[in-house]
Amino acid sequence: AGRALPTSLPEYTEEATRRMSEMAAAYFLGGAADEITLAENRRCFDRVGLVPRVLSGGTGGSTALRLLGRDLAHPVILAPVAYQRMAHPDGESGTAMAAAALDALMVLSCQASEPLEVPAKVGRTCRWMQIYMQPAREATLALARRAEAAGYEALVVTVDAPLNGVRNREMRAGFRLPDGISAVNLANLPNPPVPPLPDGASAVFDRFMARAPSWDDIRWLRGQTGLKLVLKGILHPDDAVRAVETGVDALIVSNHGGRVLDSAAPALVQLPQIAAAVGPDVPLLLDGGIRRGTDIVKALALGARAVLIGRPIVEALAVNGAQGVAHILRLLRDELEIAMALCGCRRLQDIHPGLLCDLQASPL
Ligand code: FNR
Repeated sequence: AGRALPTSLPEYTEEATRRMSEMAAAYFLGGAADEITLAENRRCFDRVGLVPRVLSGGTGGSTALRLLGRDLAHPVILAPVAYQRMAHPDGESGTAMAAAALDALMVLSCQASEPLEVPAKVGRTCRWMQIYMQPAREATLALARRAEAAGYEALVVTVDAPLNGVRNREMRAGFRLPDGISAVNLANLPNPPVPPLPDGASAVFDRFMARAPSWDDIRWLRGQTGLKLVLKGILHPDDAVRAVETGVDALIVSNHGGRVLDSAAPALVQLPQIAAAVGPDVPLLLDGGIRRGTDIVKALALGARAVLIGRPIVEALAVNGAQGVAHILRLLRDELEIAMALCGCRRLQDIHPGLLCDLQASPL
């Protein structure tokens, strides 16, 4: 009490770090192994500079865009982040209400701590549902049908985490989910039981990868649902091309916030190659390290149509519940408008690579 609200997303990170238990911080804020990718996700934005443009006044400025047949007021999307009730009792419903108030599209995690119908009902912009392909196709289908019935318009299939990364910070903290928090939407799915692992077998290859999905499963899902299909976790241009050939509607270039393969490339570094490989007609979204309006301008300049934020959601929840989430969305949108105006951009389409420079470049 008495402390002023944070004025930026980095300040929310600091405040949330102070407030969270070691266990919650390890889960929400940590990354895989040495957290190299986690750090690089931020650093790669800080290495890119912007070159301002002057005397660009005039009417008609807007952050609006069209994405997969929907009009969005701005390009900031709430990424799927699991177990939000562990950050604050407002949980996914609180995030969904904040998202609706600030006109932000929200992606619900399939590991949400609330039934997927609830945030969809309280938040008109909670319209994309993230899923993992399940070991049994009928289990994947059960999730897809529930999402369709609840009014979701797209399935975001996360493909970069067939198994967990090496989460040393969680191990050190002895992380476990608190009582009363669980992935309620994944309970009772018709998946086969996990068979015992024979002596000498590898849990990675003989358990996780043996049940992990392939491109055939994506093609199959494409044929099963009329929802838009978005693949999340693409970093290689060849995978991006394959995804488009498989009938996917959009891609999220992402390393899962540095939580899976440590030393994985930052999305921003891979984005230009991916944009070149798939061409201008495939919407590319990007996440990992977006904390400032200027980060959004940089991502859009390099080929992203929109961006997602992950950790900032749970940091804002931890500091101030649903109001915190509304606040960070307002902050990012204001910062984006300021950055656009100072770069001479009236619309998102005006943002282009010519605005960028290498901040590390030597003048000599
Ligand atoms: C995630 N992310 C994630 N992604 C996904 O597809 N399904 C999920 O359930 C989760 N859960 C999750 C939990 C937590 C605590 C974090 C931090 C992240 C990844 C998320 O959608 C996104 O890709 C990254 O968080 C983006 O990076 P930033 O914005 O956190 O730097």
